[in-house]
Amino acid sequence: MFDFSNKTVFIAGGTSGINLGIAQAFAEVGARVAVLSRSQEKVDAAVASIAAHGGEVIGFSADVRDYAAVEEALKAAHQQFGDLDVLVSGAAGNFPAKALGMSANAFKSVVDIDLMGTYHVLRAAFPLLKKPGASVINISAPQAFIPMAYQMHVCAAKAGVDMVTRVAALEWGKEGVRVNSVVPGPIEGTEGMARLAPTPDSQSRVADSVPLGRFGTTQDVANCCLWLSSARAYYVMGTVIPVDGGWALGGASELGKTFDALLSARE
Ligand code: HXC
Ligand code: NAP
Repeated sequence: MFDFSNKTVFIAGGTSGINLGIAQAFAEVGARVAVLSRSQEKVDAAVASIAAHGGEVIGFSADVRDYAAVEEALKAAHQQFGDLDVLVSGAAGNFPAKALGMSANAFKSVVDIDLMGTYHVLRAAFPLLKKPGASVINISAPQAFIPMAYQMHVCAAKAGVDMVTRVAALEWGKEGVRVNSVVPGPIEGTEGMARLAPTPDSQSRVADSVPLGRFGTTQDVANCCLWLSSARAYYVMGTVIPVDGGWALGGASELGKTFDALLSARE
């Protein structure tokens, strides 16, 4: 259905979970894939697993909070693979904590990874993008538009990410660069859900709160990214697209209510 042979895809945070699933999906349809994250061990494992899905793969160890390191990795990927056809910014951090129960540095850490990291990735990648034609995808979260208790840091950071999407779309459209956000719902088997719904009880409450009645898969999110980066979506621009089984229609706002029980059980 999709053919990304001879295309280059760079995925920041592409070494585990949803972003790794996206990387594997692009490799399966022929793309050259570059991934970046902090842990060299995770980078090495991801490169091997993406390569098993086909295509050429390279990996970089860097922290998205470090602009110079991000720029260096992007330039190295560009040198090896050429102009970037697809850029995915998905590095993120999350933990449930009340606003008054976390330090200022804890709040800042998440804002620095999610929001500053996304800005760094887009800022450093822009000169290296294929123009016209590139597709830029920021991985957001329902917290961007649904206020959730214990998630002030994430809500603030991801709302910022969606505004980065919209303003970049306004400024880069004339050069033929499309920018969109993809908003996963609760995705099974991921670090994010392990942190936010770690018990069987909280998991079944989450599944019940999704109109489609189930967690999503990394493939569900990857399918949207493939479509969004294909010729079939060439007029889709500056949008924020949930891939969440309808969770954002109401169920997602329930998640914050589970954290009281969760965190008091840990104390
Ligand atoms: C309160 C916490 C905390 C917690 C860390 N901190 N965990 N505060 N409750 N559970 C505080 C620390 O005490 C420290 O503050 C500050 O945060 C920074 O912590 P470090 O460990 O020094 O930071 P760092 O090594 O940079 O790690 C960043 C991190 C970490 C965000 C804290 O959890 C991380 O690396 N996460 C990446 C993986 C991840 O989170 N994946 C899930 C993404 S899912 P002090 O004051 O002590 O210095 C997602 C959305 C899911 O994003 C949406 C689902 C619907
Ligand atoms: P994950 O497996 O923890 O993925 C996060 C990725 O980002 C990892 O590759 C991690 O690798 C990297 N990363 C984290 N901090 C980094 C930093 N400072 N610099 C560079 N790389 C960094 O989490 P996930 O649950 O799959 O979430 C992936 C994305 O989907 C995130 O943007 C998240 O907000 C979004 N999302 C997830 C869900 C869900 O259900 N899980 C729902 C909505 C939205 P290293 O540790 O090696 O750095």
